[in-house]
Amino acid sequence: MTSDSDTAYTIQYLDQLRTDAEKELKSIHDEAGAEQFRIKYLGKKGIIRSLLKSIPNVPEDQRKEFGALSNKLRSDIEEQFNAAPWRSAEKADHRIPLDPGLPGYPFPRGSLHALMQIRNEIRDIFLSMGFTTAYGPEVESDFYNFEALNTPEYHPARDMQDTFYISDKMLLRTQTSPVQIRVMEKQKPPIRSIMPGRVYRNEEISSRSYCLFHQIEGLYVDENVSFADLKGTLLAFSRRFFDEKTKLKIRPSFFPFTEPSVEIDVECFLCKGSGCSICKKTGWLEVLGAGMVHPNVFKSAGVDSEKYTGFAFGIGIERIALLKFGIEDIRLFYENDLRFLKQF
Ligand code: DAH
Repeated sequence: MTSDSDTAYTIQYLDQLRTDAEKELKSIHDEAGAEQFRIKYLGKKGIIRSLLKSIPNVPEDQRKEFGALSNKLRSDIEEQFNAAPWRSAEKADHRIPLDPGLPGYPFPRGSLHALMQIRNEIRDIFLSMGFTTAYGPEVESDFYNFEALNTPEYHPARDMQDTFYISDKMLLRTQTSPVQIRVMEKQKPPIRSIMPGRVYRNEEISSRSYCLFHQIEGLYVDENVSFADLKGTLLAFSRRFFDEKTKLKIRPSFFPFTEPSVEIDVECFLCKGSGCSICKKTGWLEVLGAGMVHPNVFKSAGVDSEKYTGFAFGIGIERIALLKFGIEDIRLFYENDLRFLKQF
């Protein structure tokens, strides 16, 4: 039996095909034979496929019957092939006896990304101090990211943060500080809020900086909040996060949205201040920026700066994770190399 183009596709041919196929099916006794049969009859270039393709060429008065019979033939042959006795014998031979006492297959367990672990640890310490969490959009307006944070268009501090602009007035936020404004717009003081999230900067990519990173912003607004509260809160946080005896060094700094502004260093948790490679022999690690909320910021967010005062801070999550895990290249956090990720 062939599937040549000169085959006469007639009803008799179908009968002949059925007889041949059934005979051959009966003579299959191993897998190789079955495969041969499958290719010959049921394969992509097999007899049945050419048969079905030929249906449109059959004279019109016979086409309907021929088509129906061909399809029936195909399903019969397939069915018989699948039910052939050699198959069940093969299957039976290879069947693994069920042992319900065997342990299950190990299921791969994921883990939290190193950055999320650090974020959660920081967040949980602040939650335990009565802070709540708030989030804001990553695609932000110029108003929230700069303008409302006392950084008008002409302000030189805009140069500190290379910005990805989406349009004239929209950008990828360069800091989590805009969430402060969003929180104050929605909620009356007292406010104790932390705002974790991803931020973007158009910086040259290197082992030290990347085009995105994560921050946790903090904001505390109430009557009579003073710089002593800022210091006490951040010292309590640092002693829980780094070391219970850790010391802080508070240095004057500048941020447009706080006055006064400070940067806070913690005593190096590795060498305890005696100087090592992580702290570049200084004994101190720079971990966060902070300050007393600038009255202009309160004004933009509709908070009465005569009545309320507050402090804010921003922590870089990558920086802390690099230090804590002793990682030397920030890019490792974003490459999703399982060999790296599995260590955490
Ligand atoms: N937004 C600042 C930055 O990305 C960090 C910062 C500094 C946040 C001082 C604050 C703050 O809330 O008070 O560099």
